[in-house]
Amino acid sequence: MPANFLAALRREPSGGTPVWFMRQAGRYQAEYREIRAKHSLLEICALPDVCTEVTLLPVRQLGVDAAILFSDITVPLLAIGIDLRIEENVGPIIAEPFAGAKDLVRLRDLAPSEDEPFLEATVRQIVKELGPTPLIGFAGGPFTLASYLVEGGPSRQYLKVKGLMWQDPALFRRLLERLADLTFKHLAAQAAAGAAALQIFDSWVGSLTPHDFALHVLPVMQDLFARLRALGVPTIYFGVDTAGILPLMAKAGADALGVDWRIDLDAAWRLAGTRHAIQGNLDPALLLGPWSEVEGGVRRVLAAAGSRPGHIFNLGHGVLPKTSPEILRRVVDLVHEARAET
Ligand code: CP3
Repeated sequence: MPANFLAALRREPSGGTPVWFMRQAGRYQAEYREIRAKHSLLEICALPDVCTEVTLLPVRQLGVDAAILFSDITVPLLAIGIDLRIEENVGPIIAEPFAGAKDLVRLRDLAPSEDEPFLEATVRQIVKELGPTPLIGFAGGPFTLASYLVEGGPSRQYLKVKGLMWQDPALFRRLLERLADLTFKHLAAQAAAGAAALQIFDSWVGSLTPHDFALHVLPVMQDLFARLRALGVPTIYFGVDTAGILPLMAKAGADALGVDWRIDLDAAWRLAGTRHAIQGNLDPALLLGPWSEVEGGVRRVLAAAGSRPGHIFNLGHGVLPKTSPEILRRVVDLVHEARAET
């Protein structure tokens, strides 16, 4: 019996703990590697048939309770003409990083039906082929997108983007607002085409102090989630290393918060408050270990969630390329069975 992901997001009885994995389609799968040998990552995102096949792979192989659109947080940036590439084992590289107010004009309005016409077509096709399994649409969070644009690529310390935030807070705010509008339009197009839930990957927002998050980012997120609420689909707000800002993230207005493994779920729930569903949070590195360790880890996550309604089992971050598909399948079965035992 599949567990009901959408009911869990509403903190309603879900017939067991639903489970899906961030990056559940990717290089750990032989079938994905075969497709990637023929198409670049961004080609896959723009070809509806291929993207549908990749999105459905983990649903069929693993028995997860939700699909996530196979895409990347850089897709809407490319759609408005930002010159970037994705370098293997590195991440997005921006040809001309954002350097000042003159670069704001490059962040023009996104019109999904013209700028990324494949998006709605792909979501419609996936939803049709999925049947009752819900599809999660997603986009990057404004701060995380800004971090790539300003740093020019992945970063360890985010010195440039933080520097901009402190030196010119008004410009930083305008940058985040432009990116929030991009994120909103990209998500609204996915919801209109049938996505049943929306996740914002604000992966690097945990690099901020609570003060800076509250002052510079939270107001933008509150506006964004207020706009998303009008779409009528539940939302998830995810970041890495967010234990210190979780009470503030809880004020953003999402239905669920996604957390990584650096905090226990019961502690996360205390910080987030009972009005949120919580998604997470097995350490993805644990999946490279022996099954006995994996099993212990899964059971500890479930125990920390306790009997509260509104737990969605996931990893604390994406599936690592060296993960065995078989281990993931066993995790799905264990989550479903363990809950049935209680
Ligand atoms: O969850 C899913 O199954 C959907 C797939 C997905 C991708 N990117 C495909 C992808 C998702 C949810 C993303 C989001 C994304 N992209 C984030 C936020 C989530 C996170 O991981 O924190 C970020 C920061 C990016 C930017 C990005 N794109 C990075 C850092 C990388 C990794 C570079 C590498 O080679 O490891 C990418 C490339 C990318 N996006 C891959 C996949 C499956 C790598 C595999 C490939 O190139 O085929």
